[in-house]
Amino acid sequence: MRSFLKTKTAIAVALTVTAGAAHADGHDVEVLHWWTSGGEAAALNVLKEDLESQGIGWTDMPVAGGGGEQAMTVLRARVTAGNAPTAVQGLGFDILDWANQGALANLNDVAAAEGWDDVIPEALQAFAKVDGAWVSAPVNVHSTNWVWANKAVLDANGIDVPETWEDFVAALDKLKAAGVTPIAHGGQAWQEATVFDAVAMSTLGPDGYKAAFIDLDPEALGSDAMKEAFERMEVIRANVDENFSGRDWNLATAMVINGEAGFQMMGDWAKGEFLNAGKKPGEDFLCFRFPGTQDQVTFNADQFMMFDQGGAVSKEQAALASAILSPSFQSAFNVVKGSVPARTDVSDEAFDDCGKKGMADLAAAAASGNLFGSMAHGHANPAAVKNAMYDVITAHFNGEFDSAEAVQELVDAVEIAQ
Ligand code: GAL
Repeated sequence: MRSFLKTKTAIAVALTVTAGAAHADGHDVEVLHWWTSGGEAAALNVLKEDLESQGIGWTDMPVAGGGGEQAMTVLRARVTAGNAPTAVQGLGFDILDWANQGALANLNDVAAAEGWDDVIPEALQAFAKVDGAWVSAPVNVHSTNWVWANKAVLDANGIDVPETWEDFVAALDKLKAAGVTPIAHGGQAWQEATVFDAVAMSTLGPDGYKAAFIDLDPEALGSDAMKEAFERMEVIRANVDENFSGRDWNLATAMVINGEAGFQMMGDWAKGEFLNAGKKPGEDFLCFRFPGTQDQVTFNADQFMMFDQGGAVSKEQAALASAILSPSFQSAFNVVKGSVPARTDVSDEAFDDCGKKGMADLAAAAASGNLFGSMAHGHANPAAVKNAMYDVITAHFNGEFDSAEAVQELVDAVEIAQ
């Protein structure tokens, strides 16, 4: 399966490298991103329309593939061909990698003019500034330790929001007995890793999560708590439908939206799909933190890297960065996207109950030392380590290892990847 995907990506790369060269012109911003689902496209339109209102055209370069792995492959090809896009959606350590290669424009002028240092939290600045230079424009803060539920399905089966792992398993058993798919899941490595963020946090706890995924401590990676995390993944594997393999994340979300499944464990971009389908939190769906992680937030911030276009920030790049960080855009975009604002000074007034909870959780976690970078979405360790973890987690989920073997494979893979 992965070799097929590699071929597919290679063709996509070839097409977009040439296409990009043909279509971008001096007055547009050409933007590479992976926001291709219904909810993501709706959110992206907020940005496109904002720029068009300023007379800046948008040359779109979408590269489908949740989590951005395919997009980064296309980006590497474009940069190698000497044809970098104006701006690129990026995550965490990938941004730092490009900055350290000297590929990104210095945004300090617009950042200083607009006071970014005062309103962007330290947790994001760690992935947006290198050696004192702003190298990307933070768009939002997503987080991954969420569960999304179809309210009618839970009510029909007498299921309350689970507070503990044991409650969650009991709910899964009830749904299975009722003939409802307990967990909607897309069988792709980045999705298994996204689920693993929350499951590992629930078994290792915040200190263990930090030790294992941020500090890469072999003791934590090889711990009994990590083995229990893999055992919990086996329970989740036993509660997905037989056609999960290869499913895109938003199609799994659709299964919860239409009542075919009870739960989905996914980042809060899933909320954008519920909203795009006209669903309301508290009425049609519920959002809650994965049981055992109610006090933590595993975050990933989407940012736009501005690729150096010849030594200076272009007028269009500065306008794009400024548009992204404007308080009005920060509210309008994140309300639709399912994420929360990157700025700390944006009111939660326009946000629904899940959005308000997301903003409150983020502030509380940051204040209590419970805010951690998502391993699955590039905010805990460099891409080589993240991808090594992906391989072990997805191989285990697909039955190649038992939990004890998976723990050893994880320790070995991380050691080799550093
Ligand atoms: C994440 C990204 C989100 C969403 C998600 C699914 O990495 O931060 O904005 O795109 O992937 O593709």
